[in-house]
Amino acid sequence: MQISDRLKSIQPSLTLAVNSKALELRSKGIDIISLAVGEPDFPTPKHICEAAKKAIDDNFCRYTQVPGIPELRKAAGDYFSRQHKVPVAAEAVIIGAGGKHCIYNFLQAYLNHGDEVLIPSPYWLSYPDMVQLAGGVPIFVKAGADQNFKVNCEMLERAVSAKTKLLIMNCPSNPTGAVYTQAEFAKIMDWALERGLFVLSDEIYEQLVYTDFPAPSALPWFAKKPEQVAILNGVSKSFAMTGWRIGFLCAHPDLIKKISAMQGHSTSSICSIAQKAALAALTGPMDCVLEMRQAFQRRRDLAYAKVSSWPGIVCPKPDGAFYIFCDVHTVYGDSVHNSTELCTYLLDHAHVAVVPGAAFGDDACIRFSYAVADEVLERALTAVGHELAALQKK
Ligand SMILES: Cc1ncc(COP(=O)(O)O)c(C=O)c1O
Repeated sequence: MQISDRLKSIQPSLTLAVNSKALELRSKGIDIISLAVGEPDFPTPKHICEAAKKAIDDNFCRYTQVPGIPELRKAAGDYFSRQHKVPVAAEAVIIGAGGKHCIYNFLQAYLNHGDEVLIPSPYWLSYPDMVQLAGGVPIFVKAGADQNFKVNCEMLERAVSAKTKLLIMNCPSNPTGAVYTQAEFAKIMDWALERGLFVLSDEIYEQLVYTDFPAPSALPWFAKKPEQVAILNGVSKSFAMTGWRIGFLCAHPDLIKKISAMQGHSTSSICSIAQKAALAALTGPMDCVLEMRQAFQRRRDLAYAKVSSWPGIVCPKPDGAFYIFCDVHTVYGDSVHNSTELCTYLLDHAHVAVVPGAAFGDDACIRFSYAVADEVLERALTAVGHELAALQKK
């Protein structure tokens, strides 16, 4: 059967193997705990669901404007600008079917064939495939656990070539939870823009930070050089709305117009009801976001205390998102040789599903999500710790 050349290099997600094994064990009646999920376990806040119900009752069920309803584009612009007091016009915002869709469309609109894209590694697993689908070439810049999984300008500089066009920053990071300080982030942004690179800043976890300083944002640089910066945000993680599929991208209005033209030939407008729900999220009370953040911080503390007590396992303290990414290579040996085998082993022996670091570009590591109830997290990590200790002794 013919498959397009574009899709030949695209691989199914490495997480699928662990997921299908977890499902198989569950179907045999085994109680599997999943710490593999990338979404909040909280329900979408009530006032947001009410807005969606009202949209249906009002028959707000037709196509909308392709880049989003004007009031949501404005609200997203205000949401982007609220922390930095930099105004973002509605024309500089497009609404997409989730943050992933916004990034995909941005890459399609910006990259030319052969353009190189710097991707700090470990990375969110969709970036490389999305870059390749847009004709680009991912260039990974690796930072290990000993560097708190953070890159710096010197590391980036070594990876630059005449073909480099774009740098993708993701802070707080999936999978590592790393948060750059304002100073670290500023240095990288200044370097990239002076180098003539474009920066896509994926800030989807921006509300989920546990430091006493806010997550850095590329917005001040967008204000200075709008033709070189795009920023991604959305409601999936901050408002527990992963299934509603609403994300938003801030970029130069000319680029937004092109992305909108492309979107007009693919998804067309985004779900009208979900847009009304997202509008309620962005313009409504924010205490729900604070409550979820506090719960995640409590679980981060619980998970980090456990993981950092495991001998031979290296885990920089994650400051954001809801993941723990730890270096477990000291347990590799005759029983398990790599992160994928380790995840299968943990599923079989601890009955806990976690994601192999190989999916994120670091085979020495595995990723746990702590977006589960405290007692479930406690039970799962106790079982994993026990199995890792047993492997160390083998
Ligand atoms: C780093 C990062 N960016 C973007 C997204 C996309 O979020 P969504 O498409 O669910 O809005 C995710 C989701 O897992 C993510 O982890």
